[in-house]
Amino acid sequence: MSLQPPTLHRPGPSRRFCVAPMMDWTDRHCRFFLRLISRQALLYSEMVTTGAVIHGDRTRFLGHSPQEQPLALQLGGSNPAELATCAALAEQAGYAEVNLNVGCPSDRVQNNMIGACLMGHPALVADCVKAMLEACSIPVTVKHRIGINGRDSYDELCDFVGQVHEAGCDTFIVHARIAILEGLSPKENREIPPLRYEVVRQLKADFPQLEIILNGGLASLDQMQAQLDCLDGVMVGREAYHNPYLLAEVDRRFYADEQPVRSRIEVLEALRPYIVAHLEQGGLMNHVTRHILGLFQGLPGARHFRRQLSSEIHRCEDPLALYDELLSDMTRRMQPRDCPV
Ligand SMILES: Cc1cc2nc3c(=O)[nH]c(=O)nc-3n(C[C@H](O)[C@H](O)[C@H](O)COP(=O)(O)O)c2cc1C
Repeated sequence: MSLQPPTLHRPGPSRRFCVAPMMDWTDRHCRFFLRLISRQALLYSEMVTTGAVIHGDRTRFLGHSPQEQPLALQLGGSNPAELATCAALAEQAGYAEVNLNVGCPSDRVQNNMIGACLMGHPALVADCVKAMLEACSIPVTVKHRIGINGRDSYDELCDFVGQVHEAGCDTFIVHARIAILEGLSPKENREIPPLRYEVVRQLKADFPQLEIILNGGLASLDQMQAQLDCLDGVMVGREAYHNPYLLAEVDRRFYADEQPVRSRIEVLEALRPYIVAHLEQGGLMNHVTRHILGLFQGLPGARHFRRQLSSEIHRCEDPLALYDELLSDMTRRMQPRDCPV
């Protein structure tokens, strides 16, 4: 199969390499850190519910810094009018894309008709997408599974994608496993149902005009690149979080961007002023540094770095001094091996 370019009505940012929305993980600090490693990867926010955006603290739920761009907001909800309001607010806040979560299997969200349970209601998802598109001019995308228990045939997947496409959505981010809505925890739902990349590849073959992004279990850049022979992009979740320096090669490999990439030490140096500003605003250093524990994964000193930042940080009186100490320590350990790639 060779790749047919999609026909996008609102192209927006490139989605060749995306970092997945992850609750409690891809917050603004995490995204700022990842952006120091890749200029090009498209970053997604954690899921924010429509209720939180409409009734909650908007600075908290929509706030981000311009350096995080290109950045997409993921929404959770199923009320078209509320989703429309939130899509308009997302555009005003400067997001490059708004994404609807139709993949999360948690009980808590199912009770509110949010997430993967919506795969059983394609007409409602279509209404949501239509309302969102009418309310904003940025792209509206959908992240979903290949099915849910009781509705997991390929025909039903095509029916879902077909109806949502009819409503105007051109981009589908597909987590290549079904969600089992009863009896499995969200974590188990990311591990137990088998990955079926061939289903996502078939979907692209049957809907060549759509942009289809593959998600689920992707760990190496070679494996991701191999999928781009017939798919439009990849979305990486856990591996990008646990091994963030994976992103150092993304710009060159996926975007032919040959600009120099920061070494790990340069990333730590570039993050320091951000940490200082966060501390000055009354934040804790751990809010930022909890996301960087995997920066040295696979290298000598990785355990020391992780341990110092995850436990020692809570005991010491001057966390910034600990950061500086670790920075010089890791600089010594890295020389001369710390070059990108
Ligand atoms: C801690 C955590 C939180 C997640 N939160 C969300 C979320 O808010 N919205 C969403 O669509 N998916 C969420 N996911 C699922 C990921 O976006 C992704 O679909 C899943 O982890 C599979 O990709 P991976 O194998 O590359 O990690 C979450 C995953 C993890 C590990």
